[in-house]
Amino acid sequence: MNQAIGNSNNMQQCSTKLIIESMFPKNMEQMKSPSGLATVTGPCGDTVEFFIKIEGKRIVRACFQTSGCGVTRACGSVATQLAEGKGLWEAFNMEPGMIISALDGVPDDHEHCATLCITALRCALIDYVKIYGWGQLDG
Ligand code: FES
Repeated sequence: MNQAIGNSNNMQQCSTKLIIESMFPKNMEQMKSPSGLATVTGPCGDTVEFFIKIEGKRIVRACFQTSGCGVTRACGSVATQLAEGKGLWEAFNMEPGMIISALDGVPDDHEHCATLCITALRCALIDYVKIYGWGQLDG
């Protein structure tokens, strides 16, 4: 089970939500023709690829893939679910703590996995506004 969550030394810090989301992540797939996409490698050496589909200045679909640990699978799953339906600026301002709270916490030594997912989301948004203009972030 430790391997499913990652190599955390603090398994007792893994909530039921974290374990379930790690085992059954949602939106963990590639997206064809995304509006924005980004691939980000974290300090741990693992990578998150984030895809967003935007219509009317809203994220209507978000997906991710990762080479990372189980905590990252759970964080990516929650990040995509939280991002869908949000306006672009609102999504850009999402924080790692929002993911951690939604999972009822993650082990201290894996908080960077939530940061990696949020960074990938922000970079996917930047990928979009670089093409369509920073005004897309308004309202
Ligand atoms: Fe590298 Fe989680 S430990 S992404």
